[in-house]
Amino acid sequence: MNFHFTEEQQMMRQMVREFAANEIAPFVEHMERGEFPRPILKKMAELGLMGITVPEQYGGAGMDFTSYIIAIHEISKVSATVGVILSVHASVGTNPILYFGTEEQKQKYVPKLASGEYLGAFCLTEPGAGSDAASLKTTAIRDGDHYVLNGSKVFITNGGEADTYIVFARTNPEEKGSKGVSAFIVEKHTPGLVIGKDEKKMGLHGSRTVQLSFEDMRVPAENLLGQEGDGFKIAMVNLDSGRIGIAAQSLGIAEAALEHATNYAKERIQFGKPIAEQQGVAFKLADMATNVEAAKLLVYRAAFLRANGMPCGKEASMAKLFASKTAMENAIEAVQIFGGNGYTEDYPVERLFRDAKVCEIYEGTSEIQRLVISKHLFRGMGK
Ligand code: CAA
Repeated sequence: MNFHFTEEQQMMRQMVREFAANEIAPFVEHMERGEFPRPILKKMAELGLMGITVPEQYGGAGMDFTSYIIAIHEISKVSATVGVILSVHASVGTNPILYFGTEEQKQKYVPKLASGEYLGAFCLTEPGAGSDAASLKTTAIRDGDHYVLNGSKVFITNGGEADTYIVFARTNPEEKGSKGVSAFIVEKHTPGLVIGKDEKKMGLHGSRTVQLSFEDMRVPAENLLGQEGDGFKIAMVNLDSGRIGIAAQSLGIAEAALEHATNYAKERIQFGKPIAEQQGVAFKLADMATNVEAAKLLVYRAAFLRANGMPCGKEASMAKLFASKTAMENAIEAVQIFGGNGYTEDYPVERLFRDAKVCEIYEGTSEIQRLVISKHLFRGMGK
């Protein structure tokens, strides 16, 4: 594994850092008040970030997967909200079409997603099917040249804002579990697609998360992705790489917590000297920094495997598990180092604390990451 970014990746990182500092940071207050960052997404589209890994032939920037991970990492240091919107759009919102779509589907949707004209969303989770994704109940029954979808989805990131939704539904209700699940591309104005309640979340206030329901929603049969019954694998394969994006988002939060806490500790004087010089605080910062470096290695190792077309399911889960734990722990310690100030909205660590928690939950809880990792460990051991 190469520990150096290429010149192109370094240039891209610098560009994203400047963009995050100059454009995203001033918009954080708006997002905290619940504003969806449309102007930011428009500028990100102009920079090519919305289709960063999409091949040029489909209107993307044609960069490698590691560059995408660098972008999510750098953006999330400034705004985890923008980080998750981009991660969901560019990975699980776009890649199922890019990797499993027909040429017609790719030509129709991918250039619009890559240019940022369209925003993507991914609809797997249901009220009764969260960690146990294969128990989903939404049905898609073939009727002539359409499928008729009925059911509901919850916790849909980018829902209500997205132009295309990758929807998972059961085309064969007789089959149980992961069998009989299919994936569809659903356009936003499809009759029967009902945008439900906006969740009032602990954090990520500028990102929209909604409930959706499908009421006799007719989807053209040509919008089926792959074959009937391919849906669960399409979801899992795309979640493998989606999880590296969430790991990078977590890494961004963890690193931001470390940076804010370090700067504060160097300036805050108590007992006649900066608190950074008090061992209790200095050791906290040392642990936070060590965990950031360990998370970075796991995240970029998983990205390297994915970028080079190698299996990365186990490594993606390890990266997400560790990086999200580090994000949460570092945010807790950062608030502690800031003391009373850290508990107020006047300082950024309060937001990091609220934003970090969901990284241990979405795109598979930490318990599900452990399940995936352990399944990989048992392979080849007679199981
Ligand atoms: N790649 C390819 N195929 C895979 C796979 C992978 N990573 N994982 C599983 N499969 C295949 C299996 O090989 C198996 O195929 P066969 O039947 O042909 O053998 C089939 O899928 C079923 O696999 P399992 O028996 O392992 O399935 P399971 O029911 O035990 O579930 C699970 C596995 C890992 C627990 C899965 O349900 C899971 O990932 N749950 C978490 C769901 C999740 O992450 N949700 C996130 C929602 S999206 C989101 O949060 C986005 C957002 O808005 C931020």
